[in-house]
Amino acid sequence: MRIICLVNNQVGGYHPSRYSLVARLGRPGARFLAEHGLSFLIETDAKELILMDGGSSGIPLLHNLGLIGVKPVDIGTVFLTHGHYDHADGLASLPIGLKLITHPESLSRTRISTSGFRQSPSDTMLGWAERGRLELSHESMRLGKGVTTTGEIHVRHEQESFDGSTFVNGKGEFPDNFIDEQGLILESDMGAVLLTGCAHPGIVSMVERAAELSNKDLFMVMGGFHMMGASRERLEWTTSRLKEMGIEIIAPMHCTSYAAQRFLSLRFEGFELMAAGSMVDLRVPNVDF
Ligand SMILES: [Fe+2]
Ligand SMILES: [Fe+2]
Repeated sequence: MRIICLVNNQVGGYHPSRYSLVARLGRPGARFLAEHGLSFLIETDAKELILMDGGSSGIPLLHNLGLIGVKPVDIGTVFLTHGHYDHADGLASLPIGLKLITHPESLSRTRISTSGFRQSPSDTMLGWAERGRLELSHESMRLGKGVTTTGEIHVRHEQESFDGSTFVNGKGEFPDNFIDEQGLILESDMGAVLLTGCAHPGIVSMVERAAELSNKDLFMVMGGFHMMGASRERLEWTTSRLKEMGIEIIAPMHCTSYAAQRFLSLRFEGFELMAAGSMVDLRVPNVDF
């Protein structure tokens, strides 16, 4: 199983921790592109290609796929973690015919952030619906060998309660509970990894749900932790809870925030910097867990 980062807010990635899991991709000097957004390509042990999210514009997605020699038509399944533009809209650049799996609420909510930014992913999503290759599910489902979705996740902790964002639908305006956000659980010989989009329901709530569903011990979390403006108390609590749950390696990316990344990097020996154009290979157990 390999996890390849195609889109992130930064390019590069390296392994500051002793685990040395992150490796750069492409020929020396390959110019990967970045943008605000996130996208991972997962190559399973059965050689299936699963795309999780597509970034904002599709430009880094297609460019970076080209640099690693993968054609979009070779992707078997596309999974959208939640309905935000920086995960959904890049998917519009993919060829017609790919199957897209997401939560039903990814399609129906117009989001209004705390800063008043209004976004609707419906153009992209309705395009998929018209193609007839959309599969909506709020439950955990298998996407390929060793790859399952978490299903919908409910906020479990006061520390991770809603940030004040709202959504509107035909019935009015409501606090956004991000019920549409799901992660991916990857089960490898090394153990289980949780991949997150933004972790709006809370990174601890997502890890707890993933640990309940996984057949293997969860040892690593990678993706957006959504901790902009998080208090020191919340950061301390998150660190404790993740360690209590046996998380040894974290790769916080995308919307985590630099302040939170810095805080966590000083507290986790297994802190890895993953970015567009880098990869984690779970096939070769080079460390003893
Ligand atoms: Fe995001
Ligand atoms: Fe998001």
